[in-house]
Amino acid sequence: MLGPMTTVAVANQKGGVAKTTTVHALGVGMAERGKRILLVDLDPQASLTWACGVDPDALEASIHDVLLKRAKVTDVLHVLEPPAPLEVDGKAGRTGTLHLLPSTIDLAGAELHLLTKTGREYVLRKALAKVVDDYDRVLIDCPPSLGILTINGLTAADEVVIPLQCESLSQRGVGQLLDTIEDVRDYTNEDLQVRGAIATLFDGRTKLAHQVVEQVRREYGVAVLEPFVPKSVKVAEAPAKGRSVLTHAPRSRSAEAYRDLAAQLLARKAKRT
Ligand SMILES: Nc1ncnc2c1ncn2[C@@H]1O[C@H](COP(=O)(O)OP(=O)(O)OP(=O)(O)O)[C@@H](O)[C@H]1O
Ligand SMILES: [Mg+2]
Repeated sequence: MLGPMTTVAVANQKGGVAKTTTVHALGVGMAERGKRILLVDLDPQASLTWACGVDPDALEASIHDVLLKRAKVTDVLHVLEPPAPLEVDGKAGRTGTLHLLPSTIDLAGAELHLLTKTGREYVLRKALAKVVDDYDRVLIDCPPSLGILTINGLTAADEVVIPLQCESLSQRGVGQLLDTIEDVRDYTNEDLQVRGAIATLFDGRTKLAHQVVEQVRREYGVAVLEPFVPKSVKVAEAPAKGRSVLTHAPRSRSAEAYRDLAAQLLARKAKRT
């Protein structure tokens, strides 16, 4: 069993809904509060790795080697510079830690390799089980598909967070994702919980954005966490600098929104399993 409500998968098979941005920003937001955070890049596109300032093409080893059992998580992870701690009662708080389990394009091959293996859904869960106790939270950035990598992410997780781009009323994908989560509960991870959706790339001036949030709440019964994360060029600029928006534009509304959401996700009382 994994530890208390430690591992969060950020998933949505729809591309470009800010999964990677959300994992990075929440991780930095938690590390600002002195927490020990592991970011897991489970996407062959390696966007999270790159956004953390690590060049995926220059890596000697990655999560791919971990899934193939050629390396341990501790051999592969990168120690990132932790963000400046938030002030608590006017004084600088504790400095957190931020580690990254990086990805490379090689991970695309793991998909094929895993398909032929018994227990293929559990590979990530087993690998992470050896290190989860070293962290307050493990955040997993899932790829934009419902394939075996995402299933590994969901199987390893205690809870799922669903980033939602509020630009289209057709959120059929949310239903498909919830079906997949139901399957994961049936077969590989009975205790998996949906923590909620995060409205990303949010344009509050449009009626549509608010309608999408209402629809997801009503039709799918999924909690949409608040605040919503505003669309902002500051967020889009950050990855090329190897930073999250919290470091790139710390006082921006998008950074403040992610900071608030990070605090909420930390707040829940740990559930012992
Ligand atoms: N709040 C925001 N405002 C403006 N741009 C944003 C915001 N959030 C994310 N972006 C940008 O939108 C693009 C998609 O974001 P991101 O890569 O996080 O999505 P994703 O869901 O991880 O994509 P993929 O499905 O390819 O993995 C990126 O260029 C990112 O910088
Ligand atoms: Mg991504």
